[in-house]
Amino acid sequence: MEKVDEIIEKYRSEKSHNIPILQDINDEYRYLPEEALNRISEKLGVPLSELYSLATFYKCFSLSPRGEHEVYVCMGTACHVRGAPRILYNISEKLQVKPGETTEDGKYTLETVNCLGACARGPLVMMDEKYFGLLNVAKIDKMLEGYYEQNNN
Ligand code: FES
Repeated sequence: MEKVDEIIEKYRSEKSHNIPILQDINDEYRYLPEEALNRISEKLGVPLSELYSLATFYKCFSLSPRGEHEVYVCMGTACHVRGAPRILYNISEKLQVKPGETTEDGKYTLETVNCLGACARGPLVMMDEKYFGLLNVAKIDKMLEGYYEQNNN
């Protein structure tokens, strides 16, 4: 919990410190570990219920471990009619996870979203802030395998 203590100290004197502390902890661990929330509560006297309500209200926070790579499949109407369900099925089969889950090796978290704002490029997937548009099954394989290769180097 040394890192958590450092983060708490960094923001302790700020008036609204809860969100920046949670953001830094979420960035550090890719989620908000229970022990970290207990630590914030103890050290700053913030009720745990308040921290959990922030953690569940904001989509950028997660209470369970996230993968190294986050894969967002757009299931909005435009992408849906252009084949998003097939893309989602394929990625889900390949990674052996359902939306909202993380692979056992901790590499990928699969999510769905309603629109990524680039409907003309559907079906569209965003992985680690990069957009992969006009996808087909062959491109998905390359996209994911590219990350596997990168990680194996
Ligand atoms: S519906 Fe997929 S980007 Fe808009």
